[in-house]
Amino acid sequence: MSTQGQSQCPKIEAQSHLTQNGLGKSSYNDLFMGYYFANLYFKGKLNLNKPVLMVGAGYGAGVVELMALGANLIYLNDLSSENLACAKMFINKTLPLKKNFIQYIPGDITHSDVIEKIPDHSLSIVYAKNIIPFLDAKQLLQLIKKSHDKLDSNGLLLFVFENNRLEEQIDMVRQINARFQIASKKDLQVTLDDIVIQQYREDKICSFVAYENTPKSLRTNGFPCILYGDNFLINFLMPSTIELLLKQNGFIILDSTKIAQRDDTFIITAKKN
Ligand SMILES: C[S@@+](CC[C@H](N)C(=O)[O-])C[C@H]1O[C@@H](n2cnc3c(N)ncnc32)[C@H](O)[C@@H]1O
Repeated sequence: MSTQGQSQCPKIEAQSHLTQNGLGKSSYNDLFMGYYFANLYFKGKLNLNKPVLMVGAGYGAGVVELMALGANLIYLNDLSSENLACAKMFINKTLPLKKNFIQYIPGDITHSDVIEKIPDHSLSIVYAKNIIPFLDAKQLLQLIKKSHDKLDSNGLLLFVFENNRLEEQIDMVRQINARFQIASKKDLQVTLDDIVIQQYREDKICSFVAYENTPKSLRTNGFPCILYGDNFLINFLMPSTIELLLKQNGFIILDSTKIAQRDDTFIITAKKN
């Protein structure tokens, strides 16, 4: 990941545009989402007359694809100005005629001094790809509420996110609990940790080490472990949780899709009610 600005940006490869930064993978291009946006557009669900906000835009994946559909102004936000510098390098090279139609908004989108740079009711779409895992519950709620304020009527909020096969983990927790109940009937000395040690594997995202490092108070609520990166939290959520939050905060769900090629990636498109 770049730390010193533009000169440190990963190369724009001919084949793959996947890059790596401190908060996960980022890309310069996004063909798959290009098709998804085009599909929404041709169904008349995506109106690009008003500006787009790309939250946690990283290296700007999606800009080329949205510009191709006629977006006229894109706000590119990211916590990291270094990432935005790479996005700018890519956009200036790839879309020289469109560079004046991009505005860069560095900073934490959940902070009011950042989000309030955008006028209320002014946006067509808020697009947030691979950002949910980096937000805690309060920040996610703030993003949803603020998106509602900033979107024009019928504007869209589009989340793309991975959850590291959380469904599988939840299933595993169910199995562990069932086995614990059977085991403890036979031998009162068996503890839940004994069963977890048998069940958890190092190749699972939630290894026993990760489980042990999770405070006991947090292990019980269906989340057997929470992963910590070097200095940040990775918060994996079920699509149903996000749909509920959206519905509770003034959105209608238009589409909720699991990407077939990558069965841990979800897209939720919601319309401002
Ligand atoms: C995994 S990258 C995804 C980048 C891009 N959306 C993509 O899909 O290629 C996550 C990005 O979110 C940014 N980020 C994390 N927390 C943020 C926050 N609170 N506000 C704005 N950006 C944030 C990170 O700096 C990083 O560039």
